[in-house]
Amino acid sequence: MKFPAEIDDFLFDDLNALMSVKSTNYIVRKTYLFNDVRAKLYLGKYYPRTFCELYEIFKLILKQDEIANSLRSKEIIKILDLGCGPGCATHGLLWLFKETFGCEKKYEVYCIDGNENMTADLHAITERFFPNTSLRLEKLEFDPTKENIDNFKAKLEKILTEVDEKFDIIIVSKFINEVYTEDWHERLYSKTKYNSEKSIADNNRNFGIPTTFIKDKDDDFYKIVVPSYQYNKGAYKLMLELSNKYLDKCGILYISDPNICVNWVNNDNDIYINELMKEEIQEYLNHVDTILQLLIEPTNRCFDIAYENSRERFTKHEAFISAFSTSDSERRKGE
Ligand SMILES: C[S@@+](CC[C@H](N)C(=O)[O-])C[C@H]1O[C@@H](n2cnc3c(N)ncnc32)[C@H](O)[C@@H]1O
Repeated sequence: MKFPAEIDDFLFDDLNALMSVKSTNYIVRKTYLFNDVRAKLYLGKYYPRTFCELYEIFKLILKQDEIANSLRSKEIIKILDLGCGPGCATHGLLWLFKETFGCEKKYEVYCIDGNENMTADLHAITERFFPNTSLRLEKLEFDPTKENIDNFKAKLEKILTEVDEKFDIIIVSKFINEVYTEDWHERLYSKTKYNSEKSIADNNRNFGIPTTFIKDKDDDFYKIVVPSYQYNKGAYKLMLELSNKYLDKCGILYISDPNICVNWVNNDNDIYINELMKEEIQEYLNHVDTILQLLIEPTNRCFDIAYENSRERFTKHEAFISAFSTSDSERRKGE
């Protein structure tokens, strides 16, 4: 698809979206701390990409009759968008649904995000282009450098329990990778307890945490630097588990992230987002009584639609999970 010109005009003429000339200076990392200028840069550069990406991917998904018919039969389609930012993912989806199902259908959209600068234009765009949508925005602040996955889970569950809804679609677009790519945690280990790097290494290996060592300057301590993705491991699995609870029958869970390296500080042993996704899907499938019927493996691919290098297309490789929940009858068969 070509990004709709009327939305493009609205972004730049009414909402003061910005485009960075030196795009290499604009790094999408720690967006939960983005100020208003960086949020407007995101709006100008990345809103159209996510919008078109969701439109195209869900166009393919809707080719499955069971899914298309199930959505068509609903009077109201309920969408949850985690790490929604300006709403680009949900908006791309709503644009497709408007084309596919007509203008009569109603939508209830629940958006969750931690940065008010990133969500500043969410209401304006939704009201202007998607009048059949009722929108609720909740703030979830999670600091991946100080908190761990249990805090994240507790905060998310608190919001979702209050919302008290099941969703037809859960979108988690370019959010979880940021939980994994934050600063590294530092810890001090007493030298009396761990009197050599080897004993620290052995100890940490026992807990499965790879570490980097820096001898502290007063020489009494070893400073142990641990990549935060180790603390926050399980974020993808958590999304899959949440879908067990909050996804309606025949629902769709969609997770997408840029396939970046998560331990970019240490170049020795690169770990990429799609590896974490794959590992956590495996854990989920092994341990949870899953309602998810079909999991499309995370891939390392470009979503190759004929855009060349336009603003409508991400040039980075992306990693995806798409999952469909079983219908009631299929669930019963499995019991
Ligand atoms: C890269 S943007 C993605 C926006 C949109 N979903 C998309 O696909 O383009 C990531 C969003 O997640 C939110 N986010 C990232 N890390 C977060 C955190 N630790 N706590 C709360 N929100 C966070 C940011 O505020 C931002 O709006």
